Amino acid sequence: MKVPFFDVRYNLGDEDKKAILERWSALLDHGSFVNGPEIAELESALASFLGIEHVVACSNGSDALVLALRACDIGPGDEVILPAFTFFATAGAVARIGAVPVFADVDPVTYLMTPETAAARASAKTKAILPVHLYGCPLDVSAVRAAVESVVGHSVMVVEDSAQAVGAVHETGTVGALGDASAFSCYPTKNLGATGDAGFVTTLDAERADRMRALRQHGGGRAYFHDEVGFNFRQSGLQAAALLHHLPRLTEHNTARRCGAEHYYQLASDLGLGESIQMPQSHPGHVFHQFVIRTPQRDALREHLGKADIGSAIFYPLPLHLQPCFAHLGGAIGDLPASELAANEVIALPIYPGVVDEQREIVMKTIAEFFGG
Ligand SMILES: Cc1ncc(COP(=O)(O)O)c(C=O)c1O
Repeated sequence: MKVPFFDVRYNLGDEDKKAILERWSALLDHGSFVNGPEIAELESALASFLGIEHVVACSNGSDALVLALRACDIGPGDEVILPAFTFFATAGAVARIGAVPVFADVDPVTYLMTPETAAARASAKTKAILPVHLYGCPLDVSAVRAAVESVVGHSVMVVEDSAQAVGAVHETGTVGALGDASAFSCYPTKNLGATGDAGFVTTLDAERADRMRALRQHGGGRAYFHDEVGFNFRQSGLQAAALLHHLPRLTEHNTARRCGAEHYYQLASDLGLGESIQMPQSHPGHVFHQFVIRTPQRDALREHLGKADIGSAIFYPLPLHLQPCFAHLGGAIGDLPASELAANEVIALPIYPGVVDEQREIVMKTIAEFFGG
């Protein structure tokens, strides 16, 4: 039995397709293709789902980060502290607005930026922090903010990168409401996936939300009058319509991911894999966008899984301080050891809601077989 790493059809059965096509057909009939009623409807549905007052739909998660940073007044020359072990877009967004990414190391078990690793990179030029709820695991944003502020002696802005963590909850609050603004991605493989690119930003601050709405459309509150230079970051009505269809099942899908993770934990323990692989952190509010294990024999294990028709992926193989496009920032091998080691050892296993028990058993048994079990 094959185990694909991801198969979008878990969310696109015949009934789903019919319902989405009906929404698209309604859109073609009303003809408001740009900034039509689906956008406002989606923003309001997301606001009630998350319990966060202001939601601004936009083109994708990368642009959502740019919108959030700009609306927090981050600009050229400002230093923004972010983890080195994350998807490229986290740092790309900082660079796109002329600010300077400052890379912090991560915890070797959670893979998240910590108060200590962030504080170690703080300077008088630190203007913001950009923590990432990597793999869907919520981090303690206020502890990171407090640690950085105590070093720099002034307040800093916080933009959460929540691209992988829609629906995740930390003890201190809901992901998306833990900082000054928060960026989400609805890329098709995400927990709330569209049928193309889409994203949104959340904030508790009404003025910041208005600014993001203006920035989303070339920086003007009314057509053809521009207070600042913004972007065209509008979301497609087709994507908003698809997301409106998927949102009501997000909780069920996040629960399926969590149950899948628990099954993996149980299987790993039954098969005595505790010594061979490091399992992911199990936080109660984790939404398991990815289920990432770790072993120094990662590449050989991945090959072994591939031969058994089991999909896997590596998120991410090169930390950001070592990316060629950031060489001018002076990052070198050895600077951020936990990120560098994680990049060599992590491997993500299939966790999307369509994976069934039998497939997870095959995955863990194949891993045990690799380790001689
Ligand atoms: C952590 C993180 N940040 C930002 C993004 C960017 O989102 P998008 O692909 O929608 O632009 C992603 C998407 O993969 C992500 O995983």
